[in-house]
Amino acid sequence: PEAIVVSELANRMAERVGEVVKSLMQMGMMVTQNQTIDADTAELIIEEFGHKVVRVSDSDVEQVITQVEDKAEDLKPRPPVITIMGHVDHGKTSLLDAIRDAKVVAGEAGGITQHIGAYQVKTESGAPLTFLDTPGHAAFTSMRSRGAQVTDIVILVVAADDAVMPQTIEAINHAKAAGVPMIVAINKCDKPEANPQKVRTDLLQHEVIVEELSGDVQDVEVSAVTGKGLEELLEAVALQAEILELKSNPDRPAQGAVIEAKLDVGRGPVATVLVQTGTLKQGDIFVVGEQWGKVRAMENDQGNRVKEAGPSVPVEVLGLNGTPEAGDVLNVVSTEAQAREIADYRQEAAKEKRAAAGAATTLEQLLAKA
Ligand code: GTP
Ligand code: MG
Repeated sequence: PEAIVVSELANRMAERVGEVVKSLMQMGMMVTQNQTIDADTAELIIEEFGHKVVRVSDSDVEQVITQVEDKAEDLKPRPPVITIMGHVDHGKTSLLDAIRDAKVVAGEAGGITQHIGAYQVKTESGAPLTFLDTPGHAAFTSMRSRGAQVTDIVILVVAADDAVMPQTIEAINHAKAAGVPMIVAINKCDKPEANPQKVRTDLLQHEVIVEELSGDVQDVEVSAVTGKGLEELLEAVALQAEILELKSNPDRPAQGAVIEAKLDVGRGPVATVLVQTGTLKQGDIFVVGEQWGKVRAMENDQGNRVKEAGPSVPVEVLGLNGTPEAGDVLNVVSTEAQAREIADYRQEAAKEKRAAAGAATTLEQLLAKA
């Protein structure tokens, strides 16, 4: 089966296309850079060049976005992605506002966060941190789950005047399921009725043992109102990030995750994408879930136009041909034809799956009636 264009393969490996063609010739295959080779040959070449291959799918069409594992020397440090989670009203957005010196809370309808906000913050040392703010309301389980999946570190916010609540527990479970380290921010410590110790002992029951109680989960007493403990919290984040040694290769076609997507009346489909590896550039052609597109414009978290976005950078992407789903993966590919082919294939596959699911229900219904 045909799988990947030679130039695309070279591009994905960040190797010279001439070298790849030469290598193919040595294997007895006379192809030009614009010709397609099958997946098995591609894999041989990938190994020949000292890369490892990770197939993302068994479908031939999808082989185009076969992921080539990066070489160690191509990996560069990247900012950590930190997701703020916790029960409704425990002060997640306020904390982030205080860290960013911004005022998002004030602009929220009813003061309740209803979407994932993605922001980059520069610390005193100049090192950027990427923050995702999630809603604490019970209705937003899937958003919290998504936040946990694209994140490196979870900040669990628990209000010291309240206690561990249902969405606190849910957040703990998401972080654990995703295998992501947690830092506990005990918030609202400025309040006279604040009882941080109760938060710590409450957490014990959910197998979160904080440092103060001789565990290994960092805990920091903070107040979004007075700013108490914020520096310490950022230090805890920096320490955790250092341990994780986060790296990715900025010099390859981008891959990212859709944080949110919507159909904007004026601008068409818009997706907030967190770039995870590579650099997303204006003009790039990509597939994202069942959709595809060409980056027409990008905006950073400040609403400024940017021409490119590297690892851990959240950007709003314009130029989609349809609205993807939150959680979809974005992959840059070489040509519109490829992008369209993959998107079409995925749409077909999804349609078949839905039809199969539909048929199953009808059968069940028939049996139930019989
Ligand atoms: P959701 O996004 O709806 O889950 O809420 P949230 O966790 O983002 O809480 P938010 O930041 O909107 O804060 C909720 C309320 O608590 C607001 O009225 C804040 O002013 C207040 N608040 C947040 N942090 C503190 C704090 O440290 N001290 C005090 N006294 N009040 C706080
Ligand atoms: Mg909020």
